Amino acid sequence: EKGGFDSFMLKEIFEQPQAIRDTIGSRIDLDEKKVVLPELKMSDAQLASYDRIYIIACGTSMHAGLVGKDVIEKLTRIPVEVAVASEFRYRDPIYTDKTLMIVISQSGETADTLAALREAKKSGVTVMAITNVVGSSVAREADEVLFTWAGPEVAVASTKAYTSQVAALYMFALYLSQIKGTQSAEQIAEIVDHLLELPGQISQILADADHVRQYAERIKDVTSLFFIGRSLDYAVSLEGSLKLKEISYIHSEAYAAGELKHGTLALIEEDVPVIALATQPDIYEKMVSNIVEVKARGAHVLGFAFAGDNDLIKTVDQVVYVPKTLPLLAPILTVIPLQLLAYYTSAARGLDVDKPRNLAKSVTVE
Ligand code: M6R
Repeated sequence: EKGGFDSFMLKEIFEQPQAIRDTIGSRIDLDEKKVVLPELKMSDAQLASYDRIYIIACGTSMHAGLVGKDVIEKLTRIPVEVAVASEFRYRDPIYTDKTLMIVISQSGETADTLAALREAKKSGVTVMAITNVVGSSVAREADEVLFTWAGPEVAVASTKAYTSQVAALYMFALYLSQIKGTQSAEQIAEIVDHLLELPGQISQILADADHVRQYAERIKDVTSLFFIGRSLDYAVSLEGSLKLKEISYIHSEAYAAGELKHGTLALIEEDVPVIALATQPDIYEKMVSNIVEVKARGAHVLGFAFAGDNDLIKTVDQVVYVPKTLPLLAPILTVIPLQLLAYYTSAARGLDVDKPRNLAKSVTVE
């Protein structure tokens, strides 16, 4: 049932090209190069009327939400707030009749996420769910559902669900920008073209998995490491760090690179591994300055860049290159080597990759 792989996690990592294809395929009109969401019950006018969006989720699903926030805000200019469900549900949130709530849950059964959904509905807020399980509580109780078509995810560490959630959020953001007219047809078509290339690009990254395996050997015995990035790269850093600590039990922290000098830089010393994501052109130079800061303290830096970037290697020790796409779509590609890194590090430490200690696949108690 693991399809020739030695763990469900590795199998699910390799299923990502298909999961993305299935999640975006039926929602892209290839002739018109635009997004269609026939499953939405509300009218376009209703959808266009929201002026504020909350994205509520836990763990990896919340990290997908952070990517979604940036993408929705960039494409539609609607303010989006992301919060973890366990905080949000007790927060007495501010709702208006123009508030939309999006809950994201792979399982559709996470107790805190479900509770946040129910609280919002009680207050009359429209809730849209992004979930992977048809018939789950979240799918049944939400007003609207966008399914991720990732197939069953068995490993506790979420991989294909995350990339599929991000893909579904791209679909939603594009659709919203179409009906609000915040992006031109050409801009939408350009993003759609690049989205369609993602599955093949993920396959390319997977074919080069060995590169990441070697780096896992290097970090498998360290006690601590850091992930840094800015904007979308920061959102992905959080996910890379969670994945690594969850299954390898190595302490790691993700930091918005510009925040380092407000405390965390004190922990950077000789040979501390730092994984630095640098795919976003608008803050690239700032990111390089932050890398120089950690290098100056002796950090060993693994950089992440787009293929064709010949500059980053001048500042870091090693680079993982991902195929070139639009900066907006980088998260779906950069997260793949980070998932592989978590997997290979856990495997090199002889741990149970699929069932990490203390954790459950679906957290149905608060
Ligand atoms: O099923 P959900 O998406 O609601 O689960 C949320 C989190 O429990 C989940 O993403 C968790 O963080 C993963 N084990 C991380 O890999």
